[in-house]
Amino acid sequence: MDVDRVYGSGLFTKDKFLFYERLPSTQDRAKELIKNGVGRPGYVIVADEQYRGRGRFRRVWSSRMGESLIFSFITEKIPLLSMRTALSVTETLEEECGLRAEIEWPNDIVVNGRKICGILIETERNLAIIGVGMNINETVLLLENATSVRIETGIPASREAILSSFLSIFESNLTRENIMDCVREYLSFIDRYVEIETENGIVRGEFINLGEDGEIIIRTESGTIAGFLPGEAKRVHKLSAPLLAGTDRQRG
Ligand code: BTN
Repeated sequence: MDVDRVYGSGLFTKDKFLFYERLPSTQDRAKELIKNGVGRPGYVIVADEQYRGRGRFRRVWSSRMGESLIFSFITEKIPLLSMRTALSVTETLEEECGLRAEIEWPNDIVVNGRKICGILIETERNLAIIGVGMNINETVLLLENATSVRIETGIPASREAILSSFLSIFESNLTRENIMDCVREYLSFIDRYVEIETENGIVRGEFINLGEDGEIIIRTESGTIAGFLPGEAKRVHKLSAPLLAGTDRQRG
């Protein structure tokens, strides 16, 4: 990454940016910085390569050296952080790359149904660490259901410009009031049936809306209305058709 081409502003001033060619995980580095009293809101840790990248629910996050945009940043813990981050990624992809991305609630960003970005939010002491892994210049991806900015637009993109733009958009979304209205505009679940994997098992139903706390609200197969907060959903799958009683084996 060409450090000189990344711009800092507002909360994210350049003196709080740390760039690494290679490190285990930007997320872990941010945690260490908070633990040793250095990390505070506005710190951004960026890596060209990560060899122990983590995704949600302890999944491995792999990325390609110099092609992905991999970073973690520290913020105050405020409401709707995962929605603010997801919205900021979609707005960045639209403004910077002309891509219409969708939010696959709660933390995935997809383009044409394929994942282009993952978000991991953790806390350390009283601060939040937000990790973002964006596929930018990959021309080949190991996962079938993944894509990159370059694959979607056909042209290479600047990771530096995308990072600079994201940080400035995120900062403006930190204080934006109508976050959930904006998030709903980009949702991929509208008019869909979903299957939500929670710690307590799988729940299926018809997507109704997102609530003001960022929770997904569905009408379950038994007809009750249920809500799940982002942290309660391990995975969410879209279903192609309503699952009527007795037909709920079709996903296998
Ligand atoms: C997911 O989709 O499960 C979330 C993936 C988050 C990956 C990013 S890459 C930067 C930061 N460092 C990590 O180890 N993970 C996050």
